[in-house]
Amino acid sequence: MQVVKLGGSVITNKGAAGSRRGAGARFLPGVARRLLREVRDSREEVILVTGAGSFGHVLADRFGLKDGFREDRQWDGYCLVSRDVRRLNLMVLDEALRLGMRPVSIPPSVAVLQAEGRIHYIDEGSFRRYLANRLMPVTFGDVALDLGRRRFSICSGDALVAHLSRLFNAERAVFVSDVDGILVGERRSLARELSPPDLERIAPPGGAGGKDVTGGIRAKARLSLGLAASGTETVILNGRRRGRLADALRGGSPVGTWFRRPGR
Ligand code: IPE
Repeated sequence: MQVVKLGGSVITNKGAAGSRRGAGARFLPGVARRLLREVRDSREEVILVTGAGSFGHVLADRFGLKDGFREDRQWDGYCLVSRDVRRLNLMVLDEALRLGMRPVSIPPSVAVLQAEGRIHYIDEGSFRRYLANRLMPVTFGDVALDLGRRRFSICSGDALVAHLSRLFNAERAVFVSDVDGILVGERRSLARELSPPDLERIAPPGGAGGKDVTGGIRAKARLSLGLAASGTETVILNGRRRGRLADALRGGSPVGTWFRRPGR
């Protein structure tokens, strides 16, 4: 079993100027379709996670949703963001259905409960039963209810990848982004493999950028190192390059930043 996240930077115009206001958010169906085809043709068992990109981060930032409840009008933002990321997720589903896949959407705003910003509960049974019936669960970066003082928080796609990979003992987790991987050192060279001592050498990302309320590249590296340590090989790769996702799913070593399991 493998967990694949199609990052918001690759399936939406996350970094574009037009996306600064939530209204300018655009889905990139062509890229999504090709990546989904790579998943389909690999014939691997996959849980898919979609990022929010310009459909989530802009309004989440404007309503200050990251740190939870402060004032009542934030619930308006909560509803808008939950609608927008679900819309994006359904557009991905449309493409998958056209390709003859069997995707089923599982929205974290109903299937997840958080505690102080971290996943506390996830409706694991639904994922398990859909997989047993050979359907592909598709979940996504979303807002979710929080049992702590925050009342609500952001449930990022990255956190979902980590949580689901551990629950299902995933062989591999693939983060599909719009950059080749993580750059390190003054010369900003691509790290083909990353281990804990490299964390300090990480350079700022060279990708499209755009608003991001869920932590950036260092957080992603830390989370990936944790995943590898708990037995899930993890890679961050460029989804704008044809075939890299397919290659990773088949057990190859395409260009990307790899986080290997200890002892490999
Ligand atoms: C963020 O999800 C969810 C919201 C902002 C509501 P992600 O953090 O997984 O999205 P991307 O992939 O970085 O765009």
